[in-house]
Amino acid sequence: MKKRHPIIAANRKMHAPPTGWDAPDSPFRMHPEVDVIVFPSSVDIDTCQRAEYSIGAQYGRAEKEGAFTGDISMSMLASHGCSFVLCGHSERRQHHHESNEAIASQVLAASDAGITPILCIGETADEREMGKAEEVVKTQLLTVIDALHSKPETLIVAYEPVWAIGNGKTASADEAQEMHAFIRSLIPADFRETLWIIYGGSVKPTNAAELIAQPDIDGFLVGASSLKIDEFQSIITAAL
Ligand code: PGA
Repeated sequence: MKKRHPIIAANRKMHAPPTGWDAPDSPFRMHPEVDVIVFPSSVDIDTCQRAEYSIGAQYGRAEKEGAFTGDISMSMLASHGCSFVLCGHSERRQHHHESNEAIASQVLAASDAGITPILCIGETADEREMGKAEEVVKTQLLTVIDALHSKPETLIVAYEPVWAIGNGKTASADEAQEMHAFIRSLIPADFRETLWIIYGGSVKPTNAAELIAQPDIDGFLVGASSLKIDEFQSIITAAL
């Protein structure tokens, strides 16, 4: 039996909100049986707050303030109603060269600002082919756990194999479960059973039910399918 109720997060990336996103029956609204979190672009955070969504930011800088043109701090995000923040999404690691250490600083800053960090980890296709998937994921995770002094009580982990993001190539349910169980085995014993580990990478209505049925998959971080209201609704339905 699942001990953790599902979290279904919509990572909207650099896209405008889909038509009908704020309708009274929109699937992006809070749901009694799953926690729905929307990660809009920064300019849409306030509109999502007015719509009373549960909101996360796609990025927050570790420093509280300073000469960091174009960036936004965790405390600024908190003051605009963000309760969650993605840390280390693979697109940030790739395009902004974020290191594991910089990501660990973001996680700490988020916790200090009262925001729950969602740490994104996952290997590239080459790393998997070379048999290094577990090693890469372990380093990404343990750099952050060490920074949290082995007390990850406010952390959510998102396993997102880079080779499965945005291209329709999902990890099989077995592949995903195997890595989720490995990640869980690395979590300090006190937090192992209560920590959410969600999956991301081409989650769709056609694979959501099989993935969420796995014992260590506690929800999803959904990109492309969160831009289509009917697809996002089907993913939530699969998680009920
Ligand atoms: P995707 O994106 O669902 O389009 O693969 C997931 C993500 O990048 O978080």
